[in-house]
Amino acid sequence: MIQFLHVTKTYEDDWKALSDVTFRIHKGEFVFLTGHSGAGKSTLLKLVYMDERPDLDRGGQLMVHFTQNLVFDSKNTPERSVQTLRRHMGIVFQDFKLLSDRNVYENVALALRISGVNPKEMNAKVFEALALVGISHKRLAMPYTLSGGEQQRVAIARAMVHNPYLLLADEPTGNLDPENAADVFRIFKEINARGTTVVMATHNPDFYLNSPFRRLSLRHGELLNRDIL
Ligand SMILES: Nc1ncnc2c1ncn2[C@@H]1O[C@H](COP(=O)(O)OP(=O)(O)OP(=O)(O)O)[C@@H](O)[C@H]1O
Ligand SMILES: [Mg+2]
Repeated sequence: MIQFLHVTKTYEDDWKALSDVTFRIHKGEFVFLTGHSGAGKSTLLKLVYMDERPDLDRGGQLMVHFTQNLVFDSKNTPERSVQTLRRHMGIVFQDFKLLSDRNVYENVALALRISGVNPKEMNAKVFEALALVGISHKRLAMPYTLSGGEQQRVAIARAMVHNPYLLLADEPTGNLDPENAADVFRIFKEINARGTTVVMATHNPDFYLNSPFRRLSLRHGELLNRDIL
């Protein structure tokens, strides 16, 4: 599903955020991404959703592979195709990023509305996504009236509404209390059990130390794992 081969990412100010990173994540896996602050976790995820691109002059390769006909190589995926890539993945952030002037239903429905899904199908998909995260009863609420845990569940519903192959989460529990954090983690495991590949950046050892899932550990932009392919 995701393949990095000797990927290096240098930001404009010559800061090397990732250095010679090689790993593979297979279809259906749940993988943690860990490392101290500044280790390169968000950068790695940004490369996957192609918000950033790897250094071209270092010969690395980055591929995201959904199906035989949906393969994205960072070298030959133009900006206009990045939208297509993202249509097949969901992304969840630490700070939820909900639209404050739209209610829960509209936040979740928006992407479907934009891509012209018919109203009946849209309604069914939104209800399914809201049910998945247990927030259907708040569908008419505005985001500012929700708790942090509820807002994050709405953000997860939004990420899942188009039934993506891949779910990326960048410290999704960073702003939540332990109870809500555990709940969000439980939802991610459920999503993974239903077949979606999940990559979750986290600082929380309670999750990765007690889970059977693989962990990619970054330190100063380098991947510490050796059993990565
Ligand atoms: N747009 C940018 N321009 C320059 N440097 C950047 C940029 N984004 C990130 N960096 C630097 O790259 C390094 C990796 O940052 P990144 O955000 O990937 O770390 P992180 O592991 O996600 O950290 P945190 O746990 O704090 O979120 C840091 O040193 C950071 O300052
Ligand atoms: Mg980060």
